Amino acid sequence: MKREDIIVPEGEIARQRDFQENVRAMFAARGAHPLARVETFGCQQNVADGQRIMGMLEAMGFAFTEDAGEADLVLLNTCAIREHAEQRVFGNLGILTHSKKENPEQVIVLCGCMAAEERVARRVKESYRHVDLVFGPQALWRFPELLWQVYETKKRVFSAAGERGCIAEGLPVVRERGVKAWVSIMYGCDNFCSYCIVPYVRGRERSREPAAVLAEVRELVEAGYKDITLLGQNVNSYENGRDYRFPDLLEDIDRIPGDYWLRFMSSHPKDATPRLFDVMAKGRHVAKQLHLPFQSGNNRVLEEMNRRYTREKYLELIRYARSVMPGLVLTSDVIIGFPGETEAEALDTVSLVEEVGFDALFTFLYSPRPGTKAAEMPDPVPKEEKQKWFDHLLEVQNGRSAVIHAGYAGRRVRVLVDGESGDEAYPLSSRTEGNRLVRLRGDKSLVGRFLEVKITGSNTWALYGEPV
Ligand code: SAH
Ligand code: SF4
Ligand code: F3S
Repeated sequence: MKREDIIVPEGEIARQRDFQENVRAMFAARGAHPLARVETFGCQQNVADGQRIMGMLEAMGFAFTEDAGEADLVLLNTCAIREHAEQRVFGNLGILTHSKKENPEQVIVLCGCMAAEERVARRVKESYRHVDLVFGPQALWRFPELLWQVYETKKRVFSAAGERGCIAEGLPVVRERGVKAWVSIMYGCDNFCSYCIVPYVRGRERSREPAAVLAEVRELVEAGYKDITLLGQNVNSYENGRDYRFPDLLEDIDRIPGDYWLRFMSSHPKDATPRLFDVMAKGRHVAKQLHLPFQSGNNRVLEEMNRRYTREKYLELIRYARSVMPGLVLTSDVIIGFPGETEAEALDTVSLVEEVGFDALFTFLYSPRPGTKAAEMPDPVPKEEKQKWFDHLLEVQNGRSAVIHAGYAGRRVRVLVDGESGDEAYPLSSRTEGNRLVRLRGDKSLVGRFLEVKITGSNTWALYGEPV
């Protein structure tokens, strides 16, 4: 697909600004100061999308509230990755019948990945009649138009799902104030891992123009952001023509002057290359941290998952990455209980975890997603049995994390103070270059600063320290 064909023309974006203005003028005419409650579920990409949605709402004159009761508009930006995530959203939607009863003018919006599932849209249409607007991630840039349609027609609006997706530049954004910022460099996913819903709800892979990404990062650095994460379902699929791939983009971004860390996620092992690790190693700003999901340590299961690499290839990648970046902080995602997985195969995953020694692991119990290939596969092992394997894996990893964390004791490390922690003795929260959490003694005036600290203690989940 040519990029020219998927970039939303400037004229269309301008049209959306007109709809923003319509909504703003409507509230202004009533002398009203509308409030919105925006709740985002799921991954960082969804968080980044939520910040764009807030940007558009702000342009429409909305301020933000945490309280659905007082909100003129409630928006749930949803995640479809596991069944549990969906159940939470349906629970939240149910509760919103109350606020809508109190305030019939309230507009309720369901967007994000769940909204792109036909099954979900149908259920909302039939059984959640208080929901006014439903649209998926591909329609995000058309939010002003869709919302205006709701206000104008007083009818429920369902944006058609299954749009292949495009790239919209220049959307407004409300970022978290402070030190961290997210930058999407590509959208969608073409990998179709057999268990995963993402390719169905986020459309085909498409990469932003390098110049647009570079300009955004430059702006963020100039605005004082110090921890910048490049986002994509598989950043290694980024491309700008055949000769410009993710490592090239990373290298170019790294040249932007300033005092900041540069991270990225996620990376797919099937297209992670030695060149990527070389660029990371050389990068002045690139954090020596890698999130490289392996999902399973067993080759038969990897094949069934359609991951297109082997245990051996994965280990080889890690070996190379560590050879050029000693001290690399490594994290990963794992699924336990894929359909047909045996206990012996799950133990291969545990042994890979032991062999690699991850700094942290995100572990998930397999959850069937209707419409995916794996959801059709025979899945004979009972949940209780899978839970046992899962608990065992967790125990192994927690032991490992505790040992790795204990190894920091007495060391001096550089951290970025990113906020307050709520812990009285250690009131600051900070991150190492490897993105490990350090709870710190110190004053909140230090938020936003890089500091040298001494590590004084640790547990499975965090390090503790004080400025030196
Ligand atoms: N694009 C990223 C993953 C995004 S989803 C990548 O490929 O690395 C985040 C994680 O959720 C995945 O890595 C996987 O471990 C988990 N996941 C995805 N689908 C799942 C499912 N159906 N059941 C359980 N876990 C799942
Ligand atoms: Fe899902 Fe696989 Fe795409 Fe990641 S790479 S989003 S796991 S299909
Ligand atoms: Fe969830 Fe969509 Fe992200 S399904 S994990 S919010 S891409």
